Amino acid sequence: MKYFIRTFGCQMNENDSIQAGILLEKELGMKKVNEPKDADVIILNTCSVREKPEKKVFSEAGRIGKLKKKKPNIIFGIMGCVAQEIGKTFLEKLPYLNFVIGTHNIHKLPEIIKAINEKNEKFCETEFYNEIKSINIPTLPYDKFNLKAYVTIMQGCNNFCSYCIVPFVRGREYSRKSEDIINEIKLLAEKGVKEVTLLGQNVNSYGKTREKEISFCELLYKISEIQSIKRIRFTTSHPKDFGDDLIDAFKNLKKLCNHLHLPLQSGSTKILKLMNRKYTKEEYLEKVYKLKEKVPDIAISTDIIVGFPYEEENDFQETLDVMEKVNYITSFSFKYSPRPFSKYEKIDNIPEDVKLERLKILQNLQKKLTLEHNQNAVGKTFEVLVEGFSKKKQLTGRLEDNRIVNFEGDNNLIGKFIKIKITKAFQNSLIGEVVNER
Ligand code: 5AD
Ligand code: SF4
Repeated sequence: MKYFIRTFGCQMNENDSIQAGILLEKELGMKKVNEPKDADVIILNTCSVREKPEKKVFSEAGRIGKLKKKKPNIIFGIMGCVAQEIGKTFLEKLPYLNFVIGTHNIHKLPEIIKAINEKNEKFCETEFYNEIKSINIPTLPYDKFNLKAYVTIMQGCNNFCSYCIVPFVRGREYSRKSEDIINEIKLLAEKGVKEVTLLGQNVNSYGKTREKEISFCELLYKISEIQSIKRIRFTTSHPKDFGDDLIDAFKNLKKLCNHLHLPLQSGSTKILKLMNRKYTKEEYLEKVYKLKEKVPDIAISTDIIVGFPYEEENDFQETLDVMEKVNYITSFSFKYSPRPFSKYEKIDNIPEDVKLERLKILQNLQKKLTLEHNQNAVGKTFEVLVEGFSKKKQLTGRLEDNRIVNFEGDNNLIGKFIKIKITKAFQNSLIGEVVNER
């Protein structure tokens, strides 16, 4: 049997899809295909964090419904955050759907598919567990050349930001055993992986749900002892918990990449309070300044929501102010959309055109900052992990701060760390040349 998985949303979802695929291959001997039309099992791994990706799930499901009319034997399942959110009613809404699997139940995938094959029943598994079993399904590299892998260190969230659905669809915080994390990374290293990205909704809280567990920073130090792992990244850190120990880790650990994703959400203390973010504009800036002082080459990126309820023009100006002061290298910005279960589920009082206008202004400012960052890189030399080929068939790699650089070079450089001098800057990438070291 062949399977196809389409993934929406964040890296956590991407990794869940990798794990689901591994289970199907190992336990049912299935093979992955790249087109739904070639598959016997089609799975959508869904995202509910904003309205837009959630809507996409329904249009995509409709297409699969049509395909199933021609090939009625296709097994169609929905997993991930929307599966957790909508649960059983999904099966009523979409009669051609065979199964729904929530965020804690990926480990049940093989047995569900086996059961459907045997007696064509419908399944819905959306129970939450205190001990999340699927967290220990081994993962594999996510890139073509087996250089990079995601490693989940924790799941869930206890923060309940007032706009956010995540605590409801991913459950309470749960940390994976550090021993299991280290062992998994060692295995990945043996497979040739050079870079790991540690995943969790709030990595700073790592370890708190286990007795006698090490802290997030201690975990970083331990991982950096694994010799052939050369780059460590993580996402996401919460500004309220971002502390001096992590600043020191950035300073002390050569392998910890000089890139931090630190979601701001809003630059206005008034809005941050309504969002239940538990930090002020000043506290956020103070932490950033301290980090920049100790780690001058740190690149910082962020997430921002515009048009949150009660956001006035001066609140929005505060967000622009922080954006400029931090000088983000990139940012992801979104119009507020009310989400089920969240505290502000029923409140959405900024007109759509105001939201759109603010989004446009914010994104234009970010474009300007990003281009300036890129232009400033011209003439400088950086260490680059060569990761494969660009669309134009040049070699491509990433700087430590995650920017993409394309350059001419020999194919046998793939997988190596080399020095690249930047020669040209674009909005979304850099051009460079190999520096020959003598
Ligand atoms: N509306 C708009 N954006 C949201 N995000 C989370 N919830 C919402 C919402 N209800 C954004 C936040 C978060 C990112 C993953 O998605 O910026 O950091
Ligand atoms: Fe959502 Fe806030 Fe938790 Fe992030 S920290 S997942 S924004 S509730």
